[in-house]
Amino acid sequence: MASTDGAPHTADAVGAPPAVEQVKQAAKEQQIDPYNVSGGVDENGNVTAIDYEALRERFNTPALTQEHLDRFERVTGKPPHRLMRRKLFFSHRDFDKILDYYEKYGFFLLYTGRGPSSGSMHLGHAVPFLFTKELQDIFDVPLVVMLTDDEKFLYTRNKNQGKITKGAALGDFIEYAHQNCKDIIALGFDLKKTFIYTDYEYMGGHFYQNITEFEALLTNNQIRGAMGFDGSTNIGLNAYAAKQCVAAFASSYPTLFGAGDFRAPTYEEPRPRKHIAAIPTLIPCAIDQEPYFRLLRENCDRMEFPAPKTALILSKFLTALQGSGGKMSASDPNSAIFMSDTSKQIEKKINRFAFSGGGATKEDHEKYGGNPDVDVAYAYLSYFLESDDELIEIEQSYRKGTLSTGELKKRCIQELQKFVEAFQERRSKVTEEIMREFMTPRKLEFKGNPNATASIEDAVSEKKPEEKQENTSGKLTKGERKALKIAEKKAEKLALREKGPEGEQPKAEES
Ligand code: TRP
Repeated sequence: MASTDGAPHTADAVGAPPAVEQVKQAAKEQQIDPYNVSGGVDENGNVTAIDYEALRERFNTPALTQEHLDRFERVTGKPPHRLMRRKLFFSHRDFDKILDYYEKYGFFLLYTGRGPSSGSMHLGHAVPFLFTKELQDIFDVPLVVMLTDDEKFLYTRNKNQGKITKGAALGDFIEYAHQNCKDIIALGFDLKKTFIYTDYEYMGGHFYQNITEFEALLTNNQIRGAMGFDGSTNIGLNAYAAKQCVAAFASSYPTLFGAGDFRAPTYEEPRPRKHIAAIPTLIPCAIDQEPYFRLLRENCDRMEFPAPKTALILSKFLTALQGSGGKMSASDPNSAIFMSDTSKQIEKKINRFAFSGGGATKEDHEKYGGNPDVDVAYAYLSYFLESDDELIEIEQSYRKGTLSTGELKKRCIQELQKFVEAFQERRSKVTEEIMREFMTPRKLEFKGNPNATASIEDAVSEKKPEEKQENTSGKLTKGERKALKIAEKKAEKLALREKGPEGEQPKAEES
């Protein structure tokens, strides 16, 4: 089935990260940041699998451990999602703290997003949203989804050195965002607690106040260090990071919490609310987005109305059909399975393109067994097959060689077809009207943790008990100015360290 509503099926994504490199090239290290995801290249010119442990060390993000999973289960009374159980979400920042807050105050804000580079999403794009939906259901908390039509516009123009190209006019990105929005809705989000927006359509009011305040906290050096930009990068893309960062602040969405905003035609509430700014946020996302949120965490408390350090839960990438050196890319249709692919196409792509860890011949396979660790069909099953027992059984029999590559692929095809068909069924029912409902700013309804000791009303009411003392003069004291300078320098150093010479690993996580 193609796009359900006659929308252009743009397998050709504009402004998407480059497809998996298959050309032989000189040895180089893996590169992972918001605009590049590629495995390393060894001395023989072969692309190597992404090394997630090395990446975790480089980014200095802690591992998600069994203790986190146990604690999650104790706090929510629900078993962790398979993506967490299988460590496909494998790293975090302050996940424990967000659970503490949830236990006590009963809720937090969930925030995630998507860069709309094409009209159709693929399975890799769906993964963080599947996980986020589960978190929303389990925690019963509000969720904001940012569709970054502005980011993709700026990125594409930057790549094309300012030239206007086909399918990449500004309006095209708004259209992709709307198509993606319908895809996201079809993954099952609850309208009562979900707000989805495109940057072009929603920014303004308190959100824009937060943006400029945050822009004032970031330097060009930091952005270049974290994103791999240089002096020739257009200024819009340089400034974009502030937008993705402050989108994590609850105070960018006062309406969702029942407060006024500052935009036409009402002009209520001239400044963002301090008590709303104090609501903490958890971001589920793939680890390539971490460089943004490192900047965010470094600067949260430098806002006039500070926000707590944002918590993150970080995933690996869904591998490209060709193997683990790259992720699925919308700009290379043969690397990805699209949410709009037919069952026939899924079957063909898996059979034809999915990298196999099986033996070279049937005899070899039976004698020496296969390798599920590099097998793409097995990798996809680990994302989509619910039963842990069956997955273990598949892994073991494949290793032994009693399960053939053909059989493994067949099982994978079944599972993906089931997922994609069910998705398409729901997607065909997402009308323009339903989309607009999700995109309307309104007070969200959520219950949070029924066992919390404080109430949601307490937390968002103006009389929040433990507010920090306010500096009413508007001027910084000498101590504050000094602290600001130190924080600035520290943040700059941290951003640069990413690109720093080998061996210069980041030290302990900031406290
Ligand atoms: N930059 C992201 C992308 O290109 C989109 C995005 C915005 C996002 N905010 C986010 C992703 C928060 C994850 C979490 O896809």
